[in-house]
Amino acid sequence: MKRQVLLFVWSYFVGSVLGQVTYSIPEEMSKGSLVGNIAQDLGLDLKRLKSGRARIHSGDNAEYLELDKERGLLLVKERIDRETLCGETTLCALHLQMILENPMELFRITIEITDINDGAPRFASGSKRFEISESAIVGSKFVLEKAIDADIGTNGLQSYSLSPTNNFQLKLESQSDGHKKVEMILQKALDREQQEKLSLLLTAFDGGQPRRSGTMQIIVHVLDVNDNAPMFSQTLYKATIRENAPKGTRVITVSASDKDSGSNGEIAFVISQNTLISELFQINSATGDIILTGDVDYEKSKVLQIDIEAVDNGGLSDSSKILIDVIDVNDNSPQMKILSKSDSISEDSAENTVVTMLSVSDPDSGSNGGVKCHTNNDIPFKIENTINGFYSLLTEVDLDRESASEYNITVTCSDEGVPSLSSSVTLTLHISDVNDNAPVFERSSYEAYVVENNTPGLSVLTLKASDADWNQNARLSYILEESSVNGVPVSSYVSVNAESGVIHAVRSFDYEQLKEFHFRVRAQDGGSPPLSSNVSVHILIQDQNDNGPQVLYPVQTGGSLLAEMVPRSADVGYLVTKVVAVDVDSGQNAWLSYKVHKATDRALFEVGLHNGEIRTVRQVTDKDAVKQRLTVVVEDNGRPSRSATVIVNVAVANSFPQVLSEFTDLSMHDKEYNDQLTFYLVLALAVVSFLFITCLLLIISVKVYRWRQSRVLYHSNLPVIPYCPPRYSDTLGTGTLPHLYNYEVCRTTDSRKSDCKLDKAACHNMLVMDPSFTGTMQKMQNEKNILDEPDSPLEVGHLWLN
Ligand SMILES: *[C@@H]1O[C@H](CO)[C@@H](O)[C@H](O)[C@H]1NC(C)=O
Ligand SMILES: *[C@@H]1O[C@H](CO)[C@@H](O)[C@H](O)[C@H]1NC(C)=O
Repeated sequence: MKRQVLLFVWSYFVGSVLGQVTYSIPEEMSKGSLVGNIAQDLGLDLKRLKSGRARIHSGDNAEYLELDKERGLLLVKERIDRETLCGETTLCALHLQMILENPMELFRITIEITDINDGAPRFASGSKRFEISESAIVGSKFVLEKAIDADIGTNGLQSYSLSPTNNFQLKLESQSDGHKKVEMILQKALDREQQEKLSLLLTAFDGGQPRRSGTMQIIVHVLDVNDNAPMFSQTLYKATIRENAPKGTRVITVSASDKDSGSNGEIAFVISQNTLISELFQINSATGDIILTGDVDYEKSKVLQIDIEAVDNGGLSDSSKILIDVIDVNDNSPQMKILSKSDSISEDSAENTVVTMLSVSDPDSGSNGGVKCHTNNDIPFKIENTINGFYSLLTEVDLDRESASEYNITVTCSDEGVPSLSSSVTLTLHISDVNDNAPVFERSSYEAYVVENNTPGLSVLTLKASDADWNQNARLSYILEESSVNGVPVSSYVSVNAESGVIHAVRSFDYEQLKEFHFRVRAQDGGSPPLSSNVSVHILIQDQNDNGPQVLYPVQTGGSLLAEMVPRSADVGYLVTKVVAVDVDSGQNAWLSYKVHKATDRALFEVGLHNGEIRTVRQVTDKDAVKQRLTVVVEDNGRPSRSATVIVNVAVANSFPQVLSEFTDLSMHDKEYNDQLTFYLVLALAVVSFLFITCLLLIISVKVYRWRQSRVLYHSNLPVIPYCPPRYSDTLGTGTLPHLYNYEVCRTTDSRKSDCKLDKAACHNMLVMDPSFTGTMQKMQNEKNILDEPDSPLEVGHLWLN
């Protein structure tokens, strides 16, 4: 609009311009400043100015200038601001007319207002804020505010600058309207993590002298982008853990950082998938604590490796690993394994025989795995380390099954850890038997007493031997050693039960025949070869009262008479006769006593209790009968006792004929009785003779048969046992007879036994007679009783004719 006005003014004055003057003044001159000497410049006289009443016409414009008519000067009336006056118009001029009157004259005055740099470039706002993601790509453009400078030309806005220029560069782009577009271009990528906020200064410059400028602050907030992965503080973590550490133990804490902010910087820890390890450990995803959740076993793995990851919310991650050294703890006792083993060994095994082989191992390491083995002390075995980890159990000394038949061998192995762990194994080893022990009898010798007349088969005694060996080696049998007793094999006397060791009598013993005998019994075991030992057995036969007393004198005859004669003049104590009896038993059984049983006149005779002497008790008188008869009982001291009776006839007379007549009467009395008796005797004799001949034939035939049968015992099975006692000798001296009697009695039907030791002289039939008793001489029949002791104490010899 101003421009229009100006144009209008310009065209209005075109036709009447008389003179023209142009001044150029800078704007902003102070009031009263001289613009130009217009009078002079127009060639006008000052008077003319006055007379023409010169005045300045400035049209619509404000009156910036005034005319000093006095001096003809054009002065600045008011401050002129070119920018107000002309704006951006580059040629800014004030067109004035000076009008003169009288005559009217019009002068054009052009006052060119030149620009002075009075305005600085200016931004509309003092600051501008940008929010730019750090991910913005290089080359991104950001439009900036333009600055304004009212000045024109060089004083106008000339240039911009931006500082610092680290990230951004200024780009000015001319636009069609001549203005410039101010932009900043991202030159280098932003990094929030480096600089979260950038402060830039945009400066606009003009071209004046001096240069003026205006600034604007540009603040760039860098917006975070998850452009940073988390980072572990270490690429490798190392930790240690004791094996068997309790669950819940914290092993280590890992840490990671993420430069991003906010959720982009939030880190979660995870254990990379590994089934084995993730069972053992857990990681606290927030704190990074590694917690033990399983059992760590040094023996399974000595080093554990955990791969871990740190992940931020944006999914960026980092990985690291943790190496955990497992520290060995002595948690394993030695493991023993029997490689080979014998259950039994022979007792004669040599020293250092290997019985068992073991392997011993301890999975622990170091001294926790160092193993030492030993056996229990009280056994003859030792353990030796053969090669590493292998042990042999050996015998240490010779073994004896009889002292120990089995061993419980405890092998204990302990490691060297603190505290030490140990394990043990017990082996039972049997010692097998070897026949190294002979049987041993319980006693060094045996002695047994057998009462004679025993039943054959009687068990006499039991031998017992023992054998320290075992089973077959200790199975004993008892064997009778061959020997002879009185020329007869001992086996005909005794037998031994091989199994039980019981000794049986084979036959009935007769003390009067055999008083004692010895033999040996052997005990033999079942080993191979067998071992044996023997023992002596002494059998003593004990007497039994099986023989009654035998009266030797007076000889008893059937019907005949033998009388002792006592003279009527005999004194008191006159020895009438002596009853002589013997008992083949011994001891008490042969201790004889004599008693009067019946007597014609008891007051006349007595018999010595022990010596059998019959003596008169009182003086014989004439009144006493001639014929006296005494019955004397001879009794032994056996239990029960046996006895024999003997009748002693005594004749009390002074002369033999008297005696004879007495005794003949006696015979006549008996005559009838004797006839009857004679008949019976004949009958009996016939029967006996028949039996005798029959027996004789039988015996002979048996003898012949036996003879052929290899001369076995000739007398044990005979129906009648021949009786021929050996020479009787009562060495004990306890017999009833005060002196030694040696006698031999043979009473046999066996002709072979007739060779008994009898003197030829003693073996004939005997006549007993008194020279004065011719009619009473008796012949002793079927008896061979000899008193052959020359110094016999018998004092009745006067009756004997020998
Ligand atoms: C060995 O052990 C067994 C069973 O424990 C036992 O019966 C036996 O008597 C023991 N032997 C020895 C010699 O100790
Ligand atoms: C019996 O034993 C003894 C040693 O006690 C021995 O000298 C003898 O030879 C043995 N006799 C037999 C027949 O074995």
